[in-house]
Amino acid sequence: MRSHLGHAGAELLSYLRADPGLTLVAYSPLLGGAYSREDKPLPPDYDHPGTPARLAVLREVAKETGASVNQVVLAWQIGGTLPVIPLAGASSVAQLEENLAAVDLELTEDQRARLDAAH
Ligand SMILES: NC(=O)c1ccc[n+]([C@@H]2O[C@H](COP(=O)([O-])OP(=O)(O)OC[C@H]3O[C@@H](n4cnc5c(N)ncnc54)[C@H](OP(=O)(O)O)[C@@H]3O)[C@@H](O)[C@H]2O)c1
Repeated sequence: MRSHLGHAGAELLSYLRADPGLTLVAYSPLLGGAYSREDKPLPPDYDHPGTPARLAVLREVAKETGASVNQVVLAWQIGGTLPVIPLAGASSVAQLEENLAAVDLELTEDQRARLDAAH
């Protein structure tokens, strides 16, 4: 069974915001593949009343950019105002290539704002 360390909530993010010397290393940034795979449920703290709206915008932005939902998730983490390094895992070369390509995906301000606002 997969263990889950919890999400980066308001307290952790404000701690990060308060000290410019800190960088957040995000463990399991793709939730083990749950964003894109029907067979993998979201961890309980990611499955809340705002989840369907967030997933809908995530899929919308993926469609607009031509990227996968996993790439949008990683690009959102990499390109935000707070320093975040996603420690993504991969079980195949195809997954690794897909995930690495997220480095080249730049979300527009509008896309980022829509992702942040959906909850
Ligand atoms: N120290 C700790 O307590 C701790 C805790 C958690 C994580 N970590 C570290 O963080 C690293 C990453 O954690 P994680 O493996 O949970 O990260 P993750 O990136 O959330 O999940 C990786 C898994 O997601 C699936 N996946 C990845 N890319 C995919 C894609 N493009 N499409 C569909 N599925 C995809 C694969 O699962 P399948 O195998 O099912 O295909 C892959 O093994 C670990 O290696 C570990 O070093 C440390």
